[in-house]
Amino acid sequence: MFFKKKKPWEFIASSEITPETHYVNRRQFMGASLAFAAGAALRPTGARGAVERLGRLQEPEVGDVTYGENLRDELNSYEQVTTYNNFYEFGTGKEDPVRNAGSFRPEPWTVEVTGEVHKPGTYSVEDLAPPSMVEDRIYRLRCVEAWSMVIPWRGVGLREIISKVEPTANAKYVAFETAVRPAEMPGVRRPILDWPYREGLRIDEAANELTFMATGLYGRDDLPNQNGAPLRLVVPWKYGFKSIKSIVRIAFVEEQPYTTWKASAPHEYGFYANVNPEVDHPRWSQARERLLPFGRRETDLFNGYTEMVEHMYRGMDLSRWY
Ligand code: MTE
Repeated sequence: MFFKKKKPWEFIASSEITPETHYVNRRQFMGASLAFAAGAALRPTGARGAVERLGRLQEPEVGDVTYGENLRDELNSYEQVTTYNNFYEFGTGKEDPVRNAGSFRPEPWTVEVTGEVHKPGTYSVEDLAPPSMVEDRIYRLRCVEAWSMVIPWRGVGLREIISKVEPTANAKYVAFETAVRPAEMPGVRRPILDWPYREGLRIDEAANELTFMATGLYGRDDLPNQNGAPLRLVVPWKYGFKSIKSIVRIAFVEEQPYTTWKASAPHEYGFYANVNPEVDHPRWSQARERLLPFGRRETDLFNGYTEMVEHMYRGMDLSRWY
């Protein structure tokens, strides 16, 4: 008998996702019904931590509370996902994005698609992510700062967008750019980074089944501004800085593109940035992570998505992926 193998995001039906209001009202994590991550590749190695109030997320003290093996099976709350963010265009503090993104206007919005494509042009969000095509996917997000969350996104596979714009044979990489709006983004008024925020993927990484363009979360059709409205990339096997927010330009190019973090600190951040517990950041270990808000766990190679991505890196030097 033939059984179709489930994808990592198929372990939970989107209809089972508790409405976001439910989560907002519940401080606690949800339990066993969210068993999407029960597959072997996603199995936890055990996690312990101290309960902490959201908004004071510090290194948890290991040992106070012991959580079961199923800690990995649980979603972060809507509140956690939308109030603890990295989005330097709105400030460098974790609560700056939610505090400062209120006047950002994600509508109307267009995305310029340029470079090595047969169908370049100016696309609307609906052109790129038609409502009839959106789906829900639960992914782990592992930040390079050694914290992680489990987030239910809504959106479309980036491969759907790629096939719509039809890259030429010369397209070897895809480059992405975030909006720069000094009037609406207080962070870009200062030279914190070399704005615009830019990221990129190799074309096969971009076309991988896991690579996702999110346009909503928690079963909602829109993204909160602080999470990258109206559309942001989600690349779950790479450190979170690859998951670029509020995208205004997608360029298909022949050469490896400029990427913001690699350019700002090349000894600390690489182009590939695949999650790898064995390659430490120069200033901290990547072997473990804080699963917000109160967990601790061992970090998995490729953030647990090895099966779907390792073929893309055969022959490459593991220690140099960083
Ligand atoms: N995109 C832009 N434009 N600016 C940023 O500062 N931060 C990145 C990534 N995308 C960032 C960005 C980092 S470091 C992480 S960990 C994720 O966004 C965080 O996504 P989240 O806030 O939705 O959890």
